[in-house]
Amino acid sequence: MIFKNLSLFNFKNFETLDIGFEKGLNCFTGHNGAGKTNILDALHYLSITKSSINAVDSANIKFDEELFIIKSAVEINKKKHVVSCSVQLGKKKEVRVDKKEHEKLSEHIGLFPLVMISPNDSDLIYDSNEIRRRFFDSAMSQSNKAYLRHLIAYNFALKNRNALLKQFSDSGRLDSDLLQTYTSQLIEHGTPIYEERANYLNQFLDFFEQHYASLQSQNESVSITYESQLSEGSLKDRYNQSLQRDKVLQRTNVGIHKDGFLFTIFDKPLKRHGSQGQQKSFLIALKLAQYDLLASQKNLKPALLLDDVFDKLDDERMQMLLKKVTHETYGQLFITDARPERTMALLEHNQLKARIFEIEKGKVQNTTDYEPTQK
Ligand SMILES: Nc1ncnc2c1ncn2[C@@H]1O[C@H](COP(=O)(O)OP(=O)(O)OP(=O)(O)O)[C@@H](O)[C@H]1O
Ligand SMILES: [Mg+2]
Repeated sequence: MIFKNLSLFNFKNFETLDIGFEKGLNCFTGHNGAGKTNILDALHYLSITKSSINAVDSANIKFDEELFIIKSAVEINKKKHVVSCSVQLGKKKEVRVDKKEHEKLSEHIGLFPLVMISPNDSDLIYDSNEIRRRFFDSAMSQSNKAYLRHLIAYNFALKNRNALLKQFSDSGRLDSDLLQTYTSQLIEHGTPIYEERANYLNQFLDFFEQHYASLQSQNESVSITYESQLSEGSLKDRYNQSLQRDKVLQRTNVGIHKDGFLFTIFDKPLKRHGSQGQQKSFLIALKLAQYDLLASQKNLKPALLLDDVFDKLDDERMQMLLKKVTHETYGQLFITDARPERTMALLEHNQLKARIFEIEKGKVQNTTDYEPTQK
C-alpha cells in the first residue's frame, strides 16, 4: 500500500499542507514541536480513523478553528483510491473512500493497513493491561473483521450489564432475565475473542522473538504471556460465582475485558528488569511482528511509520533496525527525526534513497530527493 500524497486543512499545527510522497522512504526532520509527528498522525487517522495521540477528535482541529480535513490518494493492489477524514465541531466524524462515506467507522478498519512505532509505545510497558489489550485488539482488528465485530458486540453487552448492575445498586431491583441475557452475550462473544487472542499470540510470538533476536547480538530471551480467566474452567460458573461481587462493585468482574498480556525479559517483568534500550527493542519487535502478521494476512505491505524511533537506541541497534525496515519485505516507510544530521548519516551509511521533508512551525520549508553518494 502506498500513500501517494497528503493534504491537510487545519489539522493540528498545519493550516494547509500539500505534499507528494516517495514510494519508498520518506523522512521528516525539524525541531521539536515543528509538526513531524502530526504528519504521521494524519496518516494514522486515514488508516485507523483516529489519532494515535489524542482520543478526542476535536482536539486535533487547529486551535480556534472548527474543522479539519485530511486527504490522500492511496494505491493499494494496483488500484487508486482517495481517502479522506474530516472532523467538524458538533458533527460526527466522516471517513470517506472515493467520496463514499462509511456507514460505520469500523467498516474502514483494515482497508488501508498501517503500523506505527512511536515514543508513546512505552505506555504498553508501563501502563495497565488495558493498553496492552487495546494494542492486540487494534492489531487483530485490522486483519480480522469477525474479531472486530465480536469485540464491538462484547463491549456493548458489557456496557449494558454494568449499567444494569449500577441500576440495581440505585434501586435495589434486579431484572435477572435481562442480566442473564447480557451474561450470555458476554459468553457468546467473549469465547471467540479469547480463542482468537490465544491463536494470534501464538503466531505473533514466532515473528516477535525473531525480530527481537535480530535487533541485538546478546541472546536476550524475551516473551509475552497471555493471561485469561477463560482458560480456567466453565465461564458460566464463574459468572455465577462472581455475581455477588459484581453487585457490590457495580461492574462485571469476569470476562475477556480482564485479560492480561505479560511482557518478560529473562522470565522477569520487562517493566522492572529491562533497560531502556531493551524496552525500546522489545517495543520495536512488537510492532514489527504486528507488521509481519498483518502483511501476511492481508497479502500486501502495510505502511510503516517510525516516529522518533532512533532515540535511546545505540548505534548497533539503530543500524540493525534501519537495515531491516528498508529491506524489501517492508513497503512504504515514514521516519521522523529531530536530528537531521543523524538521518543524513544513516541514509549515507546505508546507501539509501529518500525524500526528505524539512518541517518548521507547521510548514514544509524544503523537500529534497536525497541520493546517496556512490561509494
Ligand atoms: N489542535 C492543535 N492546534 C494547533 N497546534 C497544535 C494542536 N495540537 C498540537 N499542536 C501543536 O503541534 C506541535 C507539535 O507537533 P508535533 O508533535 O508534530 O511535533 P514534532 O515535530 O513531532 O516534535 P518532536 O520532535 O518534539 O517530537 C506543538 O507545537 C503543538 O502545540
Ligand atoms: Mg514528534
